[in-house]
Amino acid sequence: MATANKPIGIFDSGMGGLTVARAIIDQLPKESFLYFGDTAHVPYGPQPGIAIRQYSESITRFLLEKGCKIIVVACNTATTAAIHHLRATWPDIHFIGMEPAVKPGAKATQSGKVAVLATARTFQTQRYSSLMQRFASNVELLENPCVGLVQRIESGQIEGPELEAFLKAILFPLLEQGADTFVLGCTHYPFLLPTFEKLLGPDIHIIDPAPALARHLKHVLDERDLLAPDDAKAKYQFFTSGPGKTFAQLAEHLLGFPVAVNEHVGLDVGSL
Ligand code: DGL
Repeated sequence: MATANKPIGIFDSGMGGLTVARAIIDQLPKESFLYFGDTAHVPYGPQPGIAIRQYSESITRFLLEKGCKIIVVACNTATTAAIHHLRATWPDIHFIGMEPAVKPGAKATQSGKVAVLATARTFQTQRYSSLMQRFASNVELLENPCVGLVQRIESGQIEGPELEAFLKAILFPLLEQGADTFVLGCTHYPFLLPTFEKLLGPDIHIIDPAPALARHLKHVLDERDLLAPDDAKAKYQFFTSGPGKTFAQLAEHLLGFPVAVNEHVGLDVGSL
């Protein structure tokens, strides 16, 4: 198969990367993809970097063996922990990663206070410190690791009064401190956009980096002559390392079409 006809590989610790997959479908409707959700190991946030690197390496190997032409690391936590390692391991493959949208957040704020919601691991990394230094020297970043939120989303809780009460406890203190811009620095969180919008109201900017990532991906594919041809018919395949039932339900909810999941796909993660 000509390389341009091959699928894009996308992965995340679970279903968060589906928010990125949706932006890719919107902007690159001819592209096929293989999506891998590591539901056996989610959440990545509390785990050591070495474990996340091993998971990411095994998933990448799986996606490349299935013929993917490019890899999207649709997870901020895996990007910060593993993308250097992946690039060093496969120097001929192009990897696209996620990072919290600190720069657009700093541009959008009027109050000078930007709330950043991401996992604790993302905040602890050099990559994040560098984003802060480069783009946020004139604004104040109010960080919240949203402990437990990824697990709620993975269990299928994406709306309702219980979730709203949980989110209010995170969001309202940030509003009280003057944040007028909220950066969604974890790919799971855009699942909750309607609830964020409801709780935060119309005057607050909410930044989901997925559309910008999809634009960047389009540019990279175009530059390398890897864009699927105009007559291509997109095909989507989904794999999970653990259970796939809730994954399939949320994927259908978000993407709007029936989703079949190949679940419990074995990953070789060495001695972990
Ligand atoms: N979706 C993830 C991210 O963007 C990770 C969540 C987790 O597994 O802790 O950071």
